[in-house]
Amino acid sequence: MITKADIAERAKQIDEIIMPMMPDIVGPQKTIYEVMEYSMSAGGKRIRPLLMLETYKMFGGNSKVVEPFMAAIEMIHTYSLIHDDLPCMDDDEYRRGKKTAHVVYGEAMALLAGDALLNFAYETAASAFSYVDHMADAARALRYLGQKSGVYGMIGGQVVDVEMEGKEIDLETLTFIHQKKTSALIEASMMIGAALAGAGNGEVQMMKRIARKIGIAFQIQDDILDVIGDQDKLGKPIGSDEKNEKTTYVSLVGLEQAKEDVKKLCEDAKAQLNLFIGEDYFLMDLIDFLIDRDY
Ligand code: IPE
Ligand code: IPE
Ligand code: MG
Ligand code: MG
Ligand code: MG
Repeated sequence: MITKADIAERAKQIDEIIMPMMPDIVGPQKTIYEVMEYSMSAGGKRIRPLLMLETYKMFGGNSKVVEPFMAAIEMIHTYSLIHDDLPCMDDDEYRRGKKTAHVVYGEAMALLAGDALLNFAYETAASAFSYVDHMADAARALRYLGQKSGVYGMIGGQVVDVEMEGKEIDLETLTFIHQKKTSALIEASMMIGAALAGAGNGEVQMMKRIARKIGIAFQIQDDILDVIGDQDKLGKPIGSDEKNEKTTYVSLVGLEQAKEDVKKLCEDAKAQLNLFIGEDYFLMDLIDFLIDRDY
């Protein structure tokens, strides 16, 4: 069983890899580096780089080529949170247990810090091309990163999420939103991990299907915690969805059904993953952890 302390320990190890890749806080534009650092270092479970690394290892990967991509996915995730919290989006004041970037540094700087993290993510990921043995795999990985973060992925989901505020939507539309706004980056994490380890296209697509179940379950759990969570544990406000008149998984199917569906999706994901996993059960345990998390 994986505990919160285990996740915190893994997050610390991941930070030792990714945080040194952040820019130094110097020069006339140093405010932007400071805001980027503020949001990146505010905390966060580091689930996406962890899933990437573990998938990479599962496919036999053992080089540092994965590291720039671990940093890149967390930068993109963090940028998405900074923008998601802006007054024109969800208008939330706390994130990762601290005041959101726009509350501390103003809206313009928060907007720019999001833009900066997004661009710097690709600058960082591109450094993986210095590993000449992995050029073709890095190229595939870069494509997945772009596809899953952009209009076909996370941004696409955020667009529909915002457009549907205050409207009644059906389960199909909500699942589209969840799949894009949240699952897409989780899919990218596992697909990139597999691709960088040299997995074939079929295996990468299999990882995508597994990650999609994990990602949708992850967002349903996020919707559940928005209703029954504890702000001190979550590090972000509860009731954000109701405030913004969002239809969520909980408002649509009820709390009990939502909890059951999280379990079911995770069981499905584990059953499919079982086909790949040898002796290493960390990923299986990680999925269990994600179902039961309270933050
Ligand atoms: C929060 O993601 C936003 C969603 C997509 C649900 P996480 O729950 O992974 O947030 P951090 O990174 O731990 O803060
Ligand atoms: C998050 O959805 C999706 C993102 C791309 C950031 P939410 O708006 O539910 O995430 P939280 O609850 O603010 O973390
Ligand atoms: Mg949102
Ligand atoms: Mg939000
Ligand atoms: Mg939420």
